[in-house]
Amino acid sequence: MSYNLLKGKKGIIFGALDERSIAWKTALRCHEEGAEIVLSNAPVAMRMGEINKLAEKVGAPVVAADATSMDDLKKLFEEATKHFNGGVDFVLHSIGMSLNVRKGKGYTELDYGFNQKTLDISAMSLHRVLRTAWDMDAINEWGSVVALTYIAAQRVFPDYSEMADAKALLESVARSFGYHYGTRKKVRINTISQSPTATTAGSGVKGFDGFIDYADKMSPIGNATGEQCADYCVSLFSDLTRMVTMQNLFHDGGFSFMGVTPLVIEKMGK
Ligand code: NAI
Repeated sequence: MSYNLLKGKKGIIFGALDERSIAWKTALRCHEEGAEIVLSNAPVAMRMGEINKLAEKVGAPVVAADATSMDDLKKLFEEATKHFNGGVDFVLHSIGMSLNVRKGKGYTELDYGFNQKTLDISAMSLHRVLRTAWDMDAINEWGSVVALTYIAAQRVFPDYSEMADAKALLESVARSFGYHYGTRKKVRINTISQSPTATTAGSGVKGFDGFIDYADKMSPIGNATGEQCADYCVSLFSDLTRMVTMQNLFHDGGFSFMGVTPLVIEKMGK
């Protein structure tokens, strides 16, 4: 159902790889709610060609940008502001990648070269995006920026490995830049801490199926789906949440405040 919550709003959505991506689902929902969109992803991800199907559905141009390249980001914002004939009202940062996890290196044997890239792609890219927009004054007053994160930033999930550190840094960047952009232009910056969700990035974590099942059994309402995450993003991009900023917002069916549930105890007893 559409409420026209984003009528007249213009946004950049990073990270739609395929139809399982949270960014993909968010682009569809934003379009339904009346937003105009520019899609972006890393050049290597674009080669898969899937994003063009989404672009057609939501009538959006696609601009390739490696989120660790200031030149790419500048070009992206230039093209987006040209396309919109003005500034941007919202940005979704839905970008994550761990080189060490991908190469099978555990937390106690990190390769620091890979680690730097992981932190740059998964966390400092938010700073790079915000800095680019800041320098170009490309986000409109009362704009809204959302980045996606995971509770491993606060609690230890061993197989999440270096991504836990990346998410802690990402959440900190959202708070720190949230101060500056809030005072300058009332732009709000938040992170959504989402339940485990079956996507390409999610499935990279070792034992992911068990992980999803455990989180579901630990959450009074169950795991939040990608579609529900898209709904939450829409609410944060809308004018109904204008005073929410610098927050890490748990979107996890209650998981973050649970100690244990009978469902999990029952499973342990067997
Ligand atoms: P996904 O694999 O569909 O999306 C990750 C995206 O990051 C891809 O589109 C990929 O191309 C992009 N990316 C990687 N390197 C990039 C670069 N250098 N420049 C630009 N883009 C780059 O997976 P998903 O799950 O939709 O991930 C989106 C966000 O949600 C990530 O930040 C992830 O950590 C976060 N998240 C995911 C959860 C899950 O269980 N799937 C749970 C909580 C948070």
